[in-house]
Amino acid sequence: MKHVSGNNRRCQSFPSLIVTLFFLFFLGFLLYNDSMKFSALQVSRPPSHQEMLREPVNSKVPPVQETPSGNKHDRDRNAEGGEDGDNQIINLSMTLGGPKMELPAFEKEDADEKIALQPEECDIFTGHWVLDNKTHPLYKEDECEFLSEWVRCLRNGRQDSLYQNWRWQPRDCSLPKFEPKLLLEKLKGKRLMFVGDSIHFNQWQSLICLVQSAIPPGKKSLDYASYITVFKIEDYNATLEFYWAPFLVESNSDPPTMRDGKSDAIIMPESISKHGRNWKDVDYLIFNTYNWWLKYPTMKVLRGSFDEGTTEYDEIERHIAYERVLRTWAKWVEENVDPTRTSIFYSSLFPQHFRSSDWNDPDGVNCAKETMPILSRTAPVNVSADRQVFAIAANVTRSMKVPVHFLNVTTLSEYRKDAHTSVYTARDGKLLSPEQRSNPGIHADCLHWCLPGVPDTWNELLYARIIALS
Ligand SMILES: *[C@@H]1O[C@H](CO)[C@@H](O)[C@H](O)[C@H]1NC(C)=O
Ligand SMILES: *[C@@H]1O[C@H](CO)[C@@H](O)[C@H](O)[C@H]1NC(C)=O
Ligand SMILES: *[C@@H]1O[C@H](CO)[C@@H](O)[C@H](O)[C@H]1NC(C)=O
Ligand SMILES: *[C@@H]1O[C@H](CO)[C@@H](O)[C@H](O)[C@H]1NC(C)=O
Ligand SMILES: *[C@@H]1O[C@H](CO)[C@@H](O)[C@H](O)[C@H]1NC(C)=O
Ligand SMILES: *[C@@H]1O[C@H](CO)[C@@H](O)[C@H](O)[C@H]1NC(C)=O
Repeated sequence: MKHVSGNNRRCQSFPSLIVTLFFLFFLGFLLYNDSMKFSALQVSRPPSHQEMLREPVNSKVPPVQETPSGNKHDRDRNAEGGEDGDNQIINLSMTLGGPKMELPAFEKEDADEKIALQPEECDIFTGHWVLDNKTHPLYKEDECEFLSEWVRCLRNGRQDSLYQNWRWQPRDCSLPKFEPKLLLEKLKGKRLMFVGDSIHFNQWQSLICLVQSAIPPGKKSLDYASYITVFKIEDYNATLEFYWAPFLVESNSDPPTMRDGKSDAIIMPESISKHGRNWKDVDYLIFNTYNWWLKYPTMKVLRGSFDEGTTEYDEIERHIAYERVLRTWAKWVEENVDPTRTSIFYSSLFPQHFRSSDWNDPDGVNCAKETMPILSRTAPVNVSADRQVFAIAANVTRSMKVPVHFLNVTTLSEYRKDAHTSVYTARDGKLLSPEQRSNPGIHADCLHWCLPGVPDTWNELLYARIIALS
C-alpha cells in the first residue's frame, strides 16, 4: 500500500501509471484553481442556521471530473462561444407538436403501458420519463416557503420551466399518487431522517415542500443545529430531518466551518459512532454518500483520530476506501438498528452532468444549455457516474442481515441533464452575479437540482416504498 505523508509521495508500484495520473490531476488542479474564483470561501465562523439553509451545503465542492481535460474542453469552448441557450422560452404546444422533438405524446404512452404489477413487487426504478404537465410539478415554487434560494430556479431567472413537467413512469406498474395526508398518517409519532451530503439536503427540502401544504400554518416549523436540521409537524408529532455526514463516517468535512470543500477531505473509514449515535431511534433512515468522493482517484485516510490531533494520513484508492466506509456503515446498522421498528434506505449515487460530451452535444456547456432530458429509451445513458461506486453500494446493501431498501435512482437521474440549478442558484447566500451567469462553464452547478424537480421524483419513489410497508 502506498503511503503518503505531507508532500513526500513515494510510489512503489505502477510508477508510470501513477505519474500519469498525478500529472493529469495536477493539470486539472491548476486549471481548476485558475478558473474557479472561489472568493470568500474562508468561513471564519460557523455559518448561521439561516445560512445553512440558504446555501447548498457543499456547493463549493469543486465539480471535479475524472478526466480534468474533458472539463477544460467545455470551459475553453465556453470561453469562445456565447451562451444563449438558456434564454429560450419553451413553447409547450410547439414542443409537443414539433416534428423534430422525439417527445412521447403522453396519451399514447398511457395506452401502450402494460401496467400489471403492484408498486410493491415492481421494479419502480426501471422506466422512462413522460411529459405530463397535468400532474407535475407536484407543487409550485412560490407555494413552498421552505425552499431555499439556491434551488428556486425560476425565481432566480431561469426562463424555461419544462423541467418541472416530467413524471417518472415505471415500466411494469404506475407510481401511487403522492398523497401528503397519507404520508403524514404513516409518519405519526415518527422520525424520518435523510443522512449524507447536500443532495440529500436537496431531497429533504423537496419532501418538506411535498407535505407542507397539508399542514396548517403555525403547525410546522424548522429547527437548525449544526449537524441536524429538523422540520417539525406538530399535529402529527412527526419530524423530517436532515443530518450532515458527507462521508457517513467521521471526516474533516463534518464541522460547519469545513463544508466549503476548500480543504482536501480526510476520512476515518472505521469511525462512525459519533454520527451514528444521532441516528438511533429514527424510524426511517435514508443514507447516501457520493459527491465528496470524486475530487481525486484516491481518498486520504487518517492514521489515528482527529481527537488526538493526528494529521498523518495514507492515500487509498477511492473504491477500496468507499467499500471500507460502507462496511463500517453496514456493521453500524446491523448492530444498532431494530429492523422491526426502523426502515433503512440507501440512495444509489446521484449523477452530475458536467460534461456535455457525455450526451454528444458539441455546442453544450456542461448542463447550462440543457432544457430537455436525454430521451433515448434504447441506448444506455452514461454521464460518467462512477459505476464501481454504484456496484459497491448495491453489493453491500444486498448482503446485509438487516434489510435495506436500495433506492436505485442513478439511471433515472442520469437522463435529467436539464434539471440542475446551473447558474440559477445562490452561493454564500448571494445569487450569482450577471457576470458569473454569463460564464456557465465555470459557474454552473450541475450537481444540485432545481425544485420543484427531480428530487420530488426520488421522494415519490421513497413514498411508494414507505406506504407499501405495513
Ligand atoms: C399543458 O400543456 C397543454 C398543451 O400545450 C396546454 O394546453 C395546457 O394548458 C397545459 N396545462 C398546464 C396545467 O400547464
Ligand atoms: C406556441 O406555439 C403555438 C403553435 O405553434 C402558437 O400557436 C402559440 O402562439 C405559441 N405561443 C407562444 C407563447 O409563443
Ligand atoms: C438499477 O436500475 C437500472 C435501470 O433500470 C438497472 O439497469 C439496474 O440493473 C438497477 N440496478 C440495481 C442494483 O437494482
Ligand atoms: C412524539 O414522538 C416521539 C418519537 O418521535 C415519541 O418519543 C413521543 O412519545 C411522542 N409524543 C407524543 C405526545 O406522542
Ligand atoms: C462511460 O463513459 C466513460 C467516459 O466517457 C467511459 O470511460 C466508460 O467506459 C463508459 N461506461 C460505460 C458503462 O459505457
Ligand atoms: C458485486 O458482486 C458481484 C457478485 O457477487 C461481483 O461479481 C462484483 O465483482 C461485485 N462488485 C463490486 C464492485 O464489489
